[in-house]
Amino acid sequence: MKIKVSAPGKLMLMGEHAVVYNHPCLVTAVDKRLYVEAEIIDKNEDEIIAPQVKESRFVLEAIAYFKKQFKINQFVKISTNGDFSHRVGLGSSSAVTVATFKALSLVFNISLTDRQIFDLSYHVNIAIQGVGSGFDIAIATFGKTTYFVTGGKIIEPLNIKPLPLVVGYSGIKADTPFYIRKVREAFRSRQTQMDSIFEEIESLVEQGKALLLNSDYEKIGALMTKNHQLLQQLGVSIPKLDLMVEKSIKAGAWGAKLSGAGGGDCIIALVSDDKRIVVENAIKSVGGEIITVDNNAEGVKVEEEV
Ligand code: PMV
Repeated sequence: MKIKVSAPGKLMLMGEHAVVYNHPCLVTAVDKRLYVEAEIIDKNEDEIIAPQVKESRFVLEAIAYFKKQFKINQFVKISTNGDFSHRVGLGSSSAVTVATFKALSLVFNISLTDRQIFDLSYHVNIAIQGVGSGFDIAIATFGKTTYFVTGGKIIEPLNIKPLPLVVGYSGIKADTPFYIRKVREAFRSRQTQMDSIFEEIESLVEQGKALLLNSDYEKIGALMTKNHQLLQQLGVSIPKLDLMVEKSIKAGAWGAKLSGAGGGDCIIALVSDDKRIVVENAIKSVGGEIITVDNNAEGVKVEEEV
């Protein structure tokens, strides 16, 4: 049997960095997906075909961990491909890990709940990267727009519509582990100040969650902009991201912020339909690239069984 599954990429809506320190965040799944095909092969080693070297590390580690957990000694062929490039920071490593576990569970006929897929994938993510809250693993698994607390203490998909977001890519690849370490160093040297920023971020996330359930975009936009200012205080923004955020707001967005670790990758702007084109042009005018994605997408799922 050959199986094809997919898992979505992500965009952080609010709460990045604070979520590493036991605070909640809001994250949404995008409709760009990572695909994994798997089949059992009659060979004496596994075969991985992955266009990105980084992805094959996650696939290999997932296979090894899965076989160890479920005492399997057969071999598999896994091939991956994606709707999106890993350069824009939409979360290809987490999506490929989640999709690999789902595919392995199906070819080896071991039933796994989404929670188990999350736990296995988070283990692999930490084994390879050493740091991270697991928000990207949770969204690749559960999809939708989700309220998440560190390590999966809470994973709560919200029953809402897709958000009217514009996504602008800075052209700079973010180095997530670098920025996580940078915040950690700041946390060690001025914990009280950092704690109070994290508390403020948490309050925005809690308000944002309630407003999302009412689709109150104007107020959510204001919270996003405030969240961006707090990220500036954490020292993770860069002039290019600040400029894209500023231009979006000036062009009439309800609010805007960087999304993710900072230092590059994307900004998100919340916009009404009549302002979308103006905001997109404003982002382009300062060298940003518009990434066309929808959000609130489905979590990991089976695409095809042959
Ligand atoms: O850079 P991204 O999109 O992978 O986001 C990182 C978000 C952090 O909160 C900084 C780290 C994490 O694992 O939660």
